[in-house]
Amino acid sequence: MSTSRSGSGHSCDVVVVGGGVIGLSIAWRAALRGLTVIVLDPAPGSGASHHAAGMLAPVTEVHYGEEDLLRLNLTAAQRYPSFVAELEQATGTPVGYRATGTLAVAFDADDKAALDELHRYQSGLGLRSQPVNARECRQLEPFLATSVRGGLLVEGDHQVDSRRLVAALLLACERAGVEIRRNAARAVHVVGDRVVGIDGISAGHTVLAAGCWSGQLAGLPAHAQPSVRPVKGQIIRLRDDVEHPVLARNVRAFVRGRPIYLVPRADGEIVLGATSEEQGFDTRLTVEGTGDLLADARVLLPRLGEIVLAEMSVGLRPGSPDNAPMIGAGAMAGLVVATGHYRNGILLAPVTADAITQLIVDGTTPDGYERFDPCRFTRATVPV
Ligand code: GLY
Repeated sequence: MSTSRSGSGHSCDVVVVGGGVIGLSIAWRAALRGLTVIVLDPAPGSGASHHAAGMLAPVTEVHYGEEDLLRLNLTAAQRYPSFVAELEQATGTPVGYRATGTLAVAFDADDKAALDELHRYQSGLGLRSQPVNARECRQLEPFLATSVRGGLLVEGDHQVDSRRLVAALLLACERAGVEIRRNAARAVHVVGDRVVGIDGISAGHTVLAAGCWSGQLAGLPAHAQPSVRPVKGQIIRLRDDVEHPVLARNVRAFVRGRPIYLVPRADGEIVLGATSEEQGFDTRLTVEGTGDLLADARVLLPRLGEIVLAEMSVGLRPGSPDNAPMIGAGAMAGLVVATGHYRNGILLAPVTADAITQLIVDGTTPDGYERFDPCRFTRATVPV
């Protein structure tokens, strides 16, 4: 199968455009299958993965009408422990996987009604989420505001430290022989109706895994460009006291109708997120976006006022037209697409890598991936 053992020349089995969590996971798994792999990214791990909170939360993040995605997310959550174990073994680098569960809480009566509705929806889907009253919420998280009305405990929704994860993936890739080229991808090479590589590299498979930038490569005909848009997320990192943490588990909340989440790491970092804004490629922080996050978080957890504000940043989630990922063969031979993971890039990285590696090695994707076919938006419709 290999076209070049070293992968360091101008030909390889697989060239991956994008060195975020998706691209690096694919590159690592493909290299473990004996394929020669080159990753192109001017700054690996600096895109959406760098900003992500790393919640692995299929149940608390379930959305109406996204039942297919829920099934994939649940599979992904089950896959996580073994993926992390293998990655940590390969690199000797802990990635901060914490199986501490998630508490979703409501602040006022309207927030409580929304949470009750979420519970009905979750129960109807057979998901495990346990209603807890206000007193039980504060037993679980003693620093929550006394005005919290109640909540849902979801013991299966966890987290991983997304930055540690990406750093470990980069190391695992290098150890597995993946060549990381720190330059921006420019133009795809097309011969006839086949993609044959990019920027002077000949490759059997060209994988687009560049998040919301995946649709911007020169050389690809319009019908083969993945339709992906950026969804802006302003996000804040706080630095807590490791000895006396203010939170034991992920907390999600509606505070007067606005959703927020707090993801506490074992090393004291708390990630507070996030806005969700359709603003194109705008990466500016705003007073309103960050101010609302901080204000809502303080209402929910008054002790946060004493905690160090370490970082504010903006990530661009890659959203597809139906907000479900695009995982599979692209619209031309030789082209593979792995983008559009939107709110679930960290969670879906292992299963995406498994599916794409299977596609490259065997020419098939696992059952159920037809729903995430990258070509579903451009397929001709049959006139009635
Ligand atoms: N999954 C969290 C977010 O997209 O903000």
